[in-house]
Amino acid sequence: MNAHDSEKVVGTLVARGYEQVETPEDAHLVLYNTCSIRDKAEQKVFNRLQNFKREAGKGKVFGVLGCVAQQEGEKIFDRAPHVSLVAGSASYPRLSEMLVQLESGNRRVTGLNLDTDETFDTPLTRRDNPHRAYITIIEGCDKACSYCVVPFTRGPERSRTGESVLAEAGRVAAQGYTEIQLLGQNVNSYRDPSPAGWDFATLLARVAEVPGIRRVRYTTSHPRDFTKAIVDAMDANPVLCDHVHLPVQSGSNRLLAGMKRLYTREQYLQRIEWLKTARRPYALSTDIIVGFPGETDKDFQETLDLLDLVQYDSLFSFKYSPRPNTAAVGMADAIPEEEKARRLAIVQEKQRAIQIRRNAELIGTIREVLVEGRNAALGQWIGRTSDNRPLNFTHPDTQATDLAGRYLSVRVTRSGPNSLVGETATVV
Ligand code: 5AD
Ligand code: SF4
Repeated sequence: MNAHDSEKVVGTLVARGYEQVETPEDAHLVLYNTCSIRDKAEQKVFNRLQNFKREAGKGKVFGVLGCVAQQEGEKIFDRAPHVSLVAGSASYPRLSEMLVQLESGNRRVTGLNLDTDETFDTPLTRRDNPHRAYITIIEGCDKACSYCVVPFTRGPERSRTGESVLAEAGRVAAQGYTEIQLLGQNVNSYRDPSPAGWDFATLLARVAEVPGIRRVRYTTSHPRDFTKAIVDAMDANPVLCDHVHLPVQSGSNRLLAGMKRLYTREQYLQRIEWLKTARRPYALSTDIIVGFPGETDKDFQETLDLLDLVQYDSLFSFKYSPRPNTAAVGMADAIPEEEKARRLAIVQEKQRAIQIRRNAELIGTIREVLVEGRNAALGQWIGRTSDNRPLNFTHPDTQATDLAGRYLSVRVTRSGPNSLVGETATVV
């Protein structure tokens, strides 16, 4: 999401006549796009800014964008007086206006209003990835998970019209993109604000029909809003990739309630059941937080049992990190850092064993990959399957200079915990 925000910000700058340079040293304007989902993000930003403090006198202009900007607001000007722009993502629709102010010498420009129904809907996106185009469909979040800073930094939910999403999908297809990833904090609560009123399942089905688009992914889902209609839409069109990321956070009902996740373990497992009994197999991935306040050994064991039960294909796991303004920040029974680290290691070890086993089962099968690039050191091409596995492979035509962007059939010959290795099965 943040990477794509940067693509839109860069596009807006380039359209105003700015030129992108390689290093902050070469730049006249330096913008930091920041994330504050975990850890001491604000500390990192101030450390970076400190490195360039002396440059400010030489006419370099600095700005802080994103969630740390929204969270810290005008305090940033006090702590780093050489910063001239502080703006959260909800203000990016006003970015051009803020740039005009900066250009005219204003050294205290802010965009901190969260009270908006606008989305940063710009045709001026400077995309970094040559094969996968990110498209935002919904911004902000109306949930209130007790550990999460996002509702405070990205504001309330705003969906784009289905028409503007389809127009962007058509544009990227015309530019040669074959893969689209739809983005939002909670894509499942997408609701077309125009009279058509499409829900997420309908939008997915429509995007998958855009001529030239061969793969559509989406992230992130919320179990509460993940409907059976989404699974049916995926089943109906294989352009919708064989992968669902469905963050569970914890396997314990007590903790899910404390986290205000709005579903139970049983309701979550019902969604998993829809996917496991669907018409084709779907790879599943999730997010886990360990060490949420009050997490007992029993709660933690329930999370481990859930991993055994679901058998995820991949997993992102995090130590709980208290965030400003959130409901959980003052909760009793904080878990000590060492214990969080111990639990994280246990989760990761268990998941590693699951992935080793699941990936090994794929040896001998033939999978279609989108070629993303080349690893010259290993003499391999880098590919990705529809179910989101990295599948790196050798190709018989060693003279082939550029396979990137092509779709090839690859036979899996080896596997590891995080990726597969193979060889081209048919040369097309
Ligand atoms: N501490 C730890 N992990 C968090 N996440 C969100 N907020 C926190 C926090 N305060 C994790 C959740 C979410 C993912 C994007 O980041 O698992 O799904
Ligand atoms: Fe944060 Fe919860 Fe919203 Fe996800 S659904 S962005 S975890 S508040």
